Amino acid sequence: MSLWVDGRSGGLASNRDIWFGFSMSEDTIDPLELWRGVANGLHGKGWGDRNVIFAEHIPSGSSVLDVGCGNCNLRNALPDGCTYRGIDQVDVHDPVVVDFNAGVVPDLPRHDFVVLSGVLEYLHDPIAALDIAKGWGDVVLFSYQPTESRTAGQLAVPMEDRVWKSTLNRADFEAGAASTFAHVEQIGRFRTQTIYRAKD
Ligand SMILES: C[S@@+](CC[C@H](N)C(=O)[O-])C[C@H]1O[C@@H](n2cnc3c(N)ncnc32)[C@H](O)[C@@H]1O
Repeated sequence: MSLWVDGRSGGLASNRDIWFGFSMSEDTIDPLELWRGVANGLHGKGWGDRNVIFAEHIPSGSSVLDVGCGNCNLRNALPDGCTYRGIDQVDVHDPVVVDFNAGVVPDLPRHDFVVLSGVLEYLHDPIAALDIAKGWGDVVLFSYQPTESRTAGQLAVPMEDRVWKSTLNRADFEAGAASTFAHVEQIGRFRTQTIYRAKD
C-alpha cells in the first residue's frame, strides 16, 4: 500500500515529517499501525499546540470526550477538574473503538464537550461524523483542513491511497456543518486548519 505517497507528491517530501514527525517507507506502513504509533506518542509533532487551542474553550469541571484521541495529549491541556475520555480507532487508551469510515460507531454516554482534533480530514464523510458527535455531547469542537489547502499532487493521488479522505472544500464543509448544528462559529486557526465550536 502506498498510503503516504500523498505526503511526497507535490514536492512536499517533508510534509510527512511536519505532520507525523517520522520517516519510513510509505510502501510498507499499515494505517492502523500508523495510528497505533500515534496513540503511543511516536508521531504528531506539534499537535499538542492544536489541543491547547481546543482546551482554551473548555471550562474547568467539564466532561470531555476526545474522539480520534491519538496519544490523548488534549488531556494535558485541559483546565482543572475536567473528566477526560479518549477513544480512537485503535484500542490503546480505551477498549471502545470508533471507525467512522467503517461504520464502527459505539454507544457512548453524553459529555459536555466532544472534541475532534485533526480527525475529520481522514474521513470519507466528515459531516456524518459531526452528526454522530452531536449525539455524544452538548458542544462539539472540531478542526478541519479544507481541500483548498492541499497540493495538486496530493489531490491527484487515487482515493484509495490517500490518507486524507475528505473531498470537501471550505464552503461545502461549512455548509454541511451549518446544516448539522444550530450554531457554528470559528474559534481559531492551527496551520491551514480552522477550528470550530458548534452546538444546537
Ligand atoms: C492526526 S491524528 C490526531 C490525534 C489527536 N486528536 C491529536 O490531536 O493529537 C488523527 C487521529 O484520527 C484517528 N482516525 C483516523 N481515521 C479515523 C477513522 N476512520 N475513525 C476514527 N478515528 C480515525 C487516528 O487514529 C488518529 O488518532
